[in-house]
Amino acid sequence: MRTIIAFLSLAIVTFSSQADFSIIAHRGASGYLPEHTFASTVLAHAQGADFIEQDVVLSKDGVPLVIHDIHLENTTNVAQIFPSRARKDGRYYAIDFTLAEINRLTVNERKNNNIQVFKQRYQGQAKFRITTLADQIELVNQLNRGTNKNTGLYIEVKSPEFHRQNGLDISQKVLSSLRKFGLDASDAKVYIQCFDFDELKRIRTELNAKVKLIQLIGENSWQEAETNYDQLKTSAGMMSVSQYADGIGPWLGHISDDESKELAPWVHKAKSLGLLIHPYTFRTETLMQGKEAKDVLDLLINKWKVDGLFTDQLPPVVSFRKSATNNL
Ligand code: G3P
Ligand code: CA
Repeated sequence: MRTIIAFLSLAIVTFSSQADFSIIAHRGASGYLPEHTFASTVLAHAQGADFIEQDVVLSKDGVPLVIHDIHLENTTNVAQIFPSRARKDGRYYAIDFTLAEINRLTVNERKNNNIQVFKQRYQGQAKFRITTLADQIELVNQLNRGTNKNTGLYIEVKSPEFHRQNGLDISQKVLSSLRKFGLDASDAKVYIQCFDFDELKRIRTELNAKVKLIQLIGENSWQEAETNYDQLKTSAGMMSVSQYADGIGPWLGHISDDESKELAPWVHKAKSLGLLIHPYTFRTETLMQGKEAKDVLDLLINKWKVDGLFTDQLPPVVSFRKSATNNL
């Protein structure tokens, strides 16, 4: 009898942790369509995302745009449409273009030095456009209404210090957008994420945000922010994060010290403090060496019990969760 009760308890805990597990569409359904376009959002919604991610940067006239980079040349045709508008470093900055100008650009699959980064992904020539945060929020709201779903938003405030140096307060703009839709609330199905420790803290304290916050964690060498991630990836660092954030978004390569066996101690500490763990980014093209998708997902979801996962490809993650819960 005791064995049966123990098994049922384990099954209930496992079921509930899988059912609570959040699948986050990284830049929409970016494994299949150019990132952050309406098409990518619609497909992610249809594929069963719990949340759809919006990376946000500002235009010259202060409009929150859903694009990943502060630069435009790797994901749009800006160099053809506005050849003379690069800065001295040869790069085209979104913040140098008004929304009207941004609307003249088309979006392509991500390139690096003019070569498509993920060669097997979308290869068509359709004219996708850059979208605004307001339009993306409305789109997800309408898709939810029409399909009776409750897919959430997962908004990243990109490069707040860069925006400040260029005279704009991106966090304030993002919060204003959320407030217009009544979404700055702790019970809204919305997260704001940021790599910048001081800025995320400011969003909670100075800007008085009620929405759930996620501290992204990277490498100092990536130069995402002035934040010292070596210091953050400690028990003391997690204690400080827990003062204002609801969770952390660690890079997948950081959460285990010994390549896929045990969670790093600082991640254990984060869990013990009640912080959610939402690692990035699961991609079928770049799995841990020698592992299949199901092995990686088993490790993340069943062994390490992370609370969510950013993914470019929703179908394998949605299927894994479905089969895991069906088998209980
Ligand atoms: O926001 C989670 C993850 O997206 C962080 O990396 O560079 O894809 O925004 P990035
Ligand atoms: Ca992001």
